[in-house]
Amino acid sequence: MAQVKDLSTITPSLDTHRLPRHVAIIMDGNGRWAQQRGLLRNKGHAAGVEAARIVIRLARKLDISYLTLFAFSEENWQRPALEIKAIMGLLRRFLARELREMQENQIAFQAIGNLKQLPAAVQRDLAQTTAATAAGAKMVLTLALSYGGRSEIVQAVQALGKEIQAGRLQPGEVDAALFSRYLYTAGMPDPDLLIRTSGEYRLSNFLLWQSAYTELYLTETLWPDFREEEFLKALHAYQQRDRRFGLTQEQIEALNASNSRH
Ligand code: IPE
Ligand code: IPE
Ligand code: MG
Repeated sequence: MAQVKDLSTITPSLDTHRLPRHVAIIMDGNGRWAQQRGLLRNKGHAAGVEAARIVIRLARKLDISYLTLFAFSEENWQRPALEIKAIMGLLRRFLARELREMQENQIAFQAIGNLKQLPAAVQRDLAQTTAATAAGAKMVLTLALSYGGRSEIVQAVQALGKEIQAGRLQPGEVDAALFSRYLYTAGMPDPDLLIRTSGEYRLSNFLLWQSAYTELYLTETLWPDFREEEFLKALHAYQQRDRRFGLTQEQIEALNASNSRH
């Protein structure tokens, strides 16, 4: 893997103590990137894998605790069979190629989504990579695969319904915190920053529940061109935001002051 440049030279204005804990990314624009170069869409996906490797490496270097990448949506099953096959092949190669580096860098890998829809070989590779990196304590790398936010919520409702039916839970006991534990992202903090590339202004069914108070960063850059500098730009933009969670700015400042006293 290529080495990350000396961060002090590329992060002069970044406050490394105020980085997002969880960054989620909708990696979009591979097809257009290829098209612009007269290449097949699959070449765009291959270039997209390289961008993902660079972003993963930098996220780890910056000590970001959770990185969640949207790699394949439930809706993407409607793409041409050959494109799906190429994406699955790239995914398997990515897993094989990154395993050692993930282990060395204490990255715990996991996949979320309707994984049973994936080809058996992919499911096996995902399970093996998850098990082989389970000890990673520095960063959780989550790939959203065959993922859809609405389906995630629906399966949570079904699971909760079963608990209620079995008498293990009262309907009135269900609150937002409990509900979150039935999502694929159980135990993870909500994303602080959600990045979408390629100039689209939509969520495309990604982390619908979890993004309730997430800061959004939308860029025209196509995913294969999203490299270190672009990522740092997004993190810098995040640090310019005032997150209020429905409170007034004065309340937030008072809270921050009291937190820094303790
Ligand atoms: C994102 O790039 C990758 C996947 C959805 C798998 P696209 O393939 O959607 O690229 P565009 O949006 O067609 O350019
Ligand atoms: C979202 O991109 C899914 C991924 C990046 C994996 P799409 O290209 O599928 O989204 P739409 O179709 O433009 O909304
Ligand atoms: Mg797209």
